[in-house]
Amino acid sequence: MWLIISLLSLVASQSNYYNAVNITFKTSSISAILQYQGTPSSSIISSLNLTIISETYTRLRVRITDLNSLRWEVPDIIIPVQSPVSFASANYSVSIHNSPFGLEVTRKSNGQQIFNIDPSSLFQYQNQDIIMTSSLNYSFNIYGFGERVTNFPLNPGIYTLFSRDAAGPYDNGQAPGKNMYSSQPMYLGLDSLGNAHGGFLLNSDAMDISVTSSNITYRTIGGIIDYFVFVGPTPESVVKQYQTLVGFPVLTPYWGLGYHQSRWGYNNLLALENIVNKYLQYKIPLDVLWTDIDCMTNYEDFTLDPARYNYNDFAAFLDRLHAAGRRFVPIMDAAIANTNYPPYNDGTMKNLWIGSPNHPGALQGDVWPGPAVYIDWFNPNATEYWHDQMGQFRKIMKFDGFWVDMNEPSNFCDGECGYPPSPLVQNLPYTPGQTMIDTKTIDLAGTHYGGILEYDVHNMYGFKMAIASATFFTQVLNTRPFVISRSSFPSHGRHASKWLGDNFSQFEWMAYSIPGMFNFQIFGIPLNGADICGFNWDTTEELCCRWYQLGMMYTFSRNHNSNSSISQEPWAFGPTLLSVSNNAIRAKYSLMNYYYTLMFHASYSGGTVFKPSFFEFPNDYRLQRIHSQDNFMVGGALLVHPVLTQGAITVDAYFPADIWYNWYSGKQIIVPFNRTLTLSAPLDGMINVHMRGGHIIPRNDGFETALTSQQLRYSNITLVIAVNGQGKAGGFLVFDDGLSVDTISSGNYTLIEYNFIEGSTSAQLNFNIIKKGYTKARGEWPFISQIVIYGCLQPITSIYNQNQRVDYNLQYSTNLKVAVGKIDHIFPDEAYNLTINF
Ligand code: NOJ
Repeated sequence: MWLIISLLSLVASQSNYYNAVNITFKTSSISAILQYQGTPSSSIISSLNLTIISETYTRLRVRITDLNSLRWEVPDIIIPVQSPVSFASANYSVSIHNSPFGLEVTRKSNGQQIFNIDPSSLFQYQNQDIIMTSSLNYSFNIYGFGERVTNFPLNPGIYTLFSRDAAGPYDNGQAPGKNMYSSQPMYLGLDSLGNAHGGFLLNSDAMDISVTSSNITYRTIGGIIDYFVFVGPTPESVVKQYQTLVGFPVLTPYWGLGYHQSRWGYNNLLALENIVNKYLQYKIPLDVLWTDIDCMTNYEDFTLDPARYNYNDFAAFLDRLHAAGRRFVPIMDAAIANTNYPPYNDGTMKNLWIGSPNHPGALQGDVWPGPAVYIDWFNPNATEYWHDQMGQFRKIMKFDGFWVDMNEPSNFCDGECGYPPSPLVQNLPYTPGQTMIDTKTIDLAGTHYGGILEYDVHNMYGFKMAIASATFFTQVLNTRPFVISRSSFPSHGRHASKWLGDNFSQFEWMAYSIPGMFNFQIFGIPLNGADICGFNWDTTEELCCRWYQLGMMYTFSRNHNSNSSISQEPWAFGPTLLSVSNNAIRAKYSLMNYYYTLMFHASYSGGTVFKPSFFEFPNDYRLQRIHSQDNFMVGGALLVHPVLTQGAITVDAYFPADIWYNWYSGKQIIVPFNRTLTLSAPLDGMINVHMRGGHIIPRNDGFETALTSQQLRYSNITLVIAVNGQGKAGGFLVFDDGLSVDTISSGNYTLIEYNFIEGSTSAQLNFNIIKKGYTKARGEWPFISQIVIYGCLQPITSIYNQNQRVDYNLQYSTNLKVAVGKIDHIFPDEAYNLTINF
């Protein structure tokens, strides 16, 4: 039976509850009316409409709306389902309890609950205060619900979702809320056996989410319940199922994975030129130079201060930067200066600002330029306005990407400058976070186009700004967008990316970046990173070294610094940082093809890149909690153990059960019974990275000399093959131009799968061309010039492509069990079946 309806009437522990009546079942939907039973009150919604849709085999949607009036619903975020599946075929079962109302969803394969509104739990649906609990009958770890700096998994407590310009502090789940820049009401649940499920509340209002070991209670101050249950059963599948709903992540340009230098405080053109010259002088790769608000005239968006950055000289500087294969990304703030200048005048003429009860035309805020107004992204003309401004600005500054900041949106006044908190804010029936909600942001009584209230859409500001910025690249420049935003909302990753905001130059803050990164993988924003060496406060050489080692493993690797802190570029301290940073940057460059192929797969079919190791080993309970954030994996092949403590020169590394090789030397490590090894980790060395048996990584060989990722594209590739217990390994490589907008949809890429199978006297290495769509691969891309086999028990004697011998320099290390064979004229985009003889 695909559906069970309980007709049993429980004695409700609540005196106020709903009954489900008029329950109607269809093949792929169930509908019912929920009738309130209890003390009447003007704030209670007495009749609710319940719709349950089996949208996909792995995703169920539960919508509960007011039967009689419209409420705020998040517009245009999710990808609508054309034809839902039948309940009979779905991977979950649904049962409804009618009196009091209850709803249970279980995973069919093992009968486990994955969502459950218990009939005895408080279910409250009021005008401004909705409470819903999902209580499962087992304990599970909860990851997600951003944005905050916190433990991974979340400790029991209350977590607030309301976008705020706040740099932490660490969120211990106690009031007041320590909510930060983004609002991401998505979680991943994982039981001790490795069964994963997910839950997503599509709601843009402020909310608190209370978490225990088996319950999640949502308390939101508006909108509706529009809830999605993801059946899993693996962590990676939950993320993919979520991304199928909110969109697969936008593909980063190839250069986006390179190394970025930024700082608040590059005060004039000479400062910028010096930075680039230093990188050249020390022969350290640099892909992208960033500028902060220093560039602006009086901190006004879309200006370049001609007194400090002469227009012609600046243009010539950018030409030189571009000619050397580097890119340039400027900052843009959310608020527009309230001064007599074109971006303000144009927006005012078009009536584009968020209004307020005090100033219907433009709510008055205060940010870096002083008095400022905020763009109403819900106004249908806002995007065109933004594109116009970006287009005008690009005439004086040829940027390649965009950094959008202060977009929570931030306001140095609380609410509206010069006015007390509005009655709306003062009279909330419930205040998420237990802090005056308009603190450091604009008044929630702010008004948007079509009568929308800031109250309902506050959490979407940064997301909307990021989309408007990204579409300038896709629609106006016809190039792939690179937009890094501080604030985000569900579906953000489909358009733009994110950095973790203002951190502190302290070891603990470096460690917090790991769970921060993980959460945004769950939220569908794989391109992410924290400010390397730390933003606030002064860094130290030791911290900066450790942070380069870790940060160059982030997907988005940028050194960024506050204007009040000491310099922290690679040459800021001395020879140790200089060589550590250079080596760390080059280590990432050796992996650029690997990272890019992972990013490609995430954009193609969803998934994670920089991930908790339990994503690869879900039933290793020690990875779920004890070792959940002291190590991570990049894709399925690389396990990383960073040093996160001051003074440490070793790291106690936990290894999940598998075969692991030292990434740099190829030597297999022998893991003791407790699976923990103390690894040497000298400050001036490389971060500990181990490669998992069974994988092939296409290493960029130009990493030792290239100064940009563009140069890397023209260097040869080594296939690093790490054999597993069966003598097998596999991997992928994608080639494209790294820049086009619709690479995936137009099929303008070449994707190759490598498979290695070892026998006793020979091995086969098969190049399987999954897709050959990038016509320039030959010529633009170099040869596959070398094969390295980790875990090779005997030397290679020859390598053949059919009857032709292609090897020319064979080496073997008995100590490391590593075989190396140079090969000639193996094209990157051709199907081969190489025979490797031992
Ligand atoms: C806040 C951002 O988080 C930070 O990265 C930036 O440097 C400052 N704003 C100044 O623009």
